[in-house]
Amino acid sequence: MVTGRHLIEPKDFSIEELEGLFALAGRMEEQPREWRDAAKGKLLASLFFEPSTRTRLSFEAAMLRLGGSVIGFAEPGSSSAVKGESLADTIRTVSAYVDVIAMRNPKEGAALLASRFSTVPVVNGGDGGHHHPTQTLTDLLTIRSLKGRTEGLTVGFCGDLKFGRTVHSLVQGLARYPRNRFVFVSPPELRIPDFVTKEIIDKGGIEYLETEDFEKALPELDILYMTRVQKERFFNEEDYLRLKDSFILDGAKLRRAKADLAVLHPLPRVNEIAVEVDSDPRAAYFAQVRYGMFARMALFASILGVA
Ligand code: NCD
Repeated sequence: MVTGRHLIEPKDFSIEELEGLFALAGRMEEQPREWRDAAKGKLLASLFFEPSTRTRLSFEAAMLRLGGSVIGFAEPGSSSAVKGESLADTIRTVSAYVDVIAMRNPKEGAALLASRFSTVPVVNGGDGGHHHPTQTLTDLLTIRSLKGRTEGLTVGFCGDLKFGRTVHSLVQGLARYPRNRFVFVSPPELRIPDFVTKEIIDKGGIEYLETEDFEKALPELDILYMTRVQKERFFNEEDYLRLKDSFILDGAKLRRAKADLAVLHPLPRVNEIAVEVDSDPRAAYFAQVRYGMFARMALFASILGVA
């Protein structure tokens, strides 16, 4: 039961709990109208201290589609954070008003800290370059729906694996299912960090490969998870400009890939996937966006105990 619980990292929920959420998300997708009053009278606070399109709007759409209501801010400049209020005090205050908090913050560990001061469940919508567990719910639901399974897959991660929190969380999510293999494609400066290789991959005894040879890696992949180079987390512009277009997926490269590859991307895309790829049946990133809303509906309904 995830009722009343925080979600800070994917591992906070067991595999059985995740599977329960995916099954519920599937029922919500089939019969969305059945759920339109499920969270009536419940209130979500959506606190975004960092820019967002999909995550914030899908949290809010999910709550509204369950019949609940939403308050919050999309812009920390409009909150008392600019007056110097600590996150702890903001959370103590907001948790007195609402039933659940969804938040995004540029600092690693912010959601965990918030969960210690909140009297209601906290859902992490991204804490700096650390984790993004609801994107992982989205990604696992997408993979499960398209591939029929989340195990025994060769999954390629390409781009900014250092700062890409969606990558860290999805690796943690997929590492818990049997026989998944990972191929990490990045420039050396943006390699997958030690906290992922040591804490998650090595502990799980999982097979993985790090490479800069994207074209060579492509033909063996079942899933390709593309990511944007995280401009806002670089200390200098020069490095960003040098690295931003390291790997670009285009139609020519895609010809080397399996016919049943699924290309995912948490979005926003910048240059890393050429627009011509969008019309390829293997492009799954816009379908993925839709799964994200049902994943978050299932999450809120379960956390709030109204499912
Ligand atoms: C991602 C994020 O914010 O980490 N976007 C998202 O939530 N869908 C990826 C990104 O910003 O590159």
